[in-house]
Amino acid sequence: MEERTLVIIKPDGVERNLTGHLLKEFERNDLRISHLKTIQPETARVRKHYAELSDMPFFNDLLTYFTRGPVVVFLADGENAVNRVRELVGVTDPKAARPNTLRRLYGIDKSENTIHASDSIESAERETKLWFPELFNA
Ligand code: PPS
Repeated sequence: MEERTLVIIKPDGVERNLTGHLLKEFERNDLRISHLKTIQPETARVRKHYAELSDMPFFNDLLTYFTRGPVVVFLADGENAVNRVRELVGVTDPKAARPNTLRRLYGIDKSENTIHASDSIESAERETKLWFPELFNA
């Protein structure tokens, strides 16, 4: 099924000049980048993005990290895009991620793991509305 998923190159990825390289990996894997922007995330939006983690002990550190510099937000389109992107990105902990996944190659730790990718079609819709509200305004 043709799908669209939301991806964020997190501050550690932008800071280390990995943006171009990471985008190329998505394209090399047959994912089309249909919308893309660099933004400085505001705390309120990051709180909403990670709302389900608000009770976690690391939540405040997560907010501090995610708002410390610009992020690159984009939509990746393609057949079965949600799962294919998750496979390409790898699991949360870079040390546990499969070889050649982007987090294994570039992630630093569970927090600074370089890339966020929606974990389901429902999350992709919710997160796309949050980060690309302009696509939904009439
Ligand atoms: S959980 O609930 O801990 O199992 O969540 P997990 O799926 O591992 O991680 C969810 C997101 O929280 C980030 N994370 C952290 N941030 C800061 N500090 C610590 N210790 C930490 N652990 C997890 C993690 O990068 C996940 O971000 P996303 O962008 O959703 O992958």
